[in-house]
Amino acid sequence: MDIDYIRVIDTFVETVNTPILVIDDRSYVISSNKAAVDLLGNDFKDRHFYVAIRQPAIINLFENVSGSNEIQKENFYKTVSGVDRTYEVTAKYSKELKIVSLSFDDVTDAVQANQMRRDFVANVSHELKSPLTSILGFTETLSGVIESNPSKAKQFLSVMERESLRMSSLIDDLLGLSRVEAAEKQLPSKQVNLGDIMREVLEILTATAAKKNIGIKYVQDAADPLIIGDYSQVVQVFTNLLQNAIKYGGDGNKIKVIMSSIEYHKSLLTTGYKVSVEDTGIGIEEHHLARLTERFYRVDDHRSRNEGGTGLGLSIVKHIMARHNGRLLVESEPGNGSVFSVIFPDRIN
Ligand SMILES: Nc1ncnc2c1ncn2[C@@H]1O[C@H](COP(=O)(O)OP(=O)(O)OP(=O)(O)O)[C@@H](O)[C@H]1O
Ligand SMILES: [Mg+2]
Repeated sequence: MDIDYIRVIDTFVETVNTPILVIDDRSYVISSNKAAVDLLGNDFKDRHFYVAIRQPAIINLFENVSGSNEIQKENFYKTVSGVDRTYEVTAKYSKELKIVSLSFDDVTDAVQANQMRRDFVANVSHELKSPLTSILGFTETLSGVIESNPSKAKQFLSVMERESLRMSSLIDDLLGLSRVEAAEKQLPSKQVNLGDIMREVLEILTATAAKKNIGIKYVQDAADPLIIGDYSQVVQVFTNLLQNAIKYGGDGNKIKVIMSSIEYHKSLLTTGYKVSVEDTGIGIEEHHLARLTERFYRVDDHRSRNEGGTGLGLSIVKHIMARHNGRLLVESEPGNGSVFSVIFPDRIN
């Protein structure tokens, strides 16, 4: 090929941020750009293509596309700075020039999003399937004992009710989560009183806690904090944190709720208010902490399920706090309890 053509190609590929390799009919790389050098770790210009890329799928792609009229695609995998990345390689052959051009599109985020969607569907199906299987099982046995053993029948009915409630609460949580996610980009616009909200939540949950002999102490260091927020979402945040403190508190648990104003917070870029929910319960080992806000993540699957938990509560809290430009902080020591704190900025920038 005329040398000028190669310079034209060189100039062109250098303006593109996507890694590109151009290979001639001797399988030599005749042009590549900086992005390709970064990706492959070396400049393979004037070297054999097979030295540059050893992944069989990409070698096959190169061989299949050579001589063909079609654009062809294949995935290329590479760990970049410790992160596994996926590139979609698009290959095109030019009959006239007898060259193959390969471009590498980073599709890692899309692949991950797809994977998350699949995991999500699998998780939801699994969570719905177990109570449903149990209800179906009991329905069958119920008809056999309904006359012969009414007390047994009653027992079965109560299990069926519990399982139905579990499904219903899972569906409520899922709908809640998708509503919260949908509104996440929209900043709240009304002024709400955090003191009012906390008193409302405490009124409802003090009774639930009392049934488990758990006392809740509420301390507020100043006047009722006013923030720009979404009333029912803040109710949800306080409810989820308190419900967890009650559920995972263990024996002799004491819950303390503290509402205080905080100085300028470097990650909030403003002053604000902090609401901490402390329990003296089972605590959480450190390696779980970062994952608590993942959907369906439970530290102790069995215990959480027995408590009717689906692992969505903290994920909902995380999204609501994001919408309020706030933060969720978790400190915990196994055996000594946990402190879940949320920080609200006193103004939204
Ligand atoms: N105060 C706490 N003490 C100990 N472990 C906790 C506490 N709060 C949460 N966890 C752990 O974090 C996990 C995730 O909590 P999350 O609120 O997201 O889900 P859940 O309580 O299992 O279910 P849901 O809230 O959807 O009913 C829980 O399963 C539990 O293992
Ligand atoms: Mg919860």
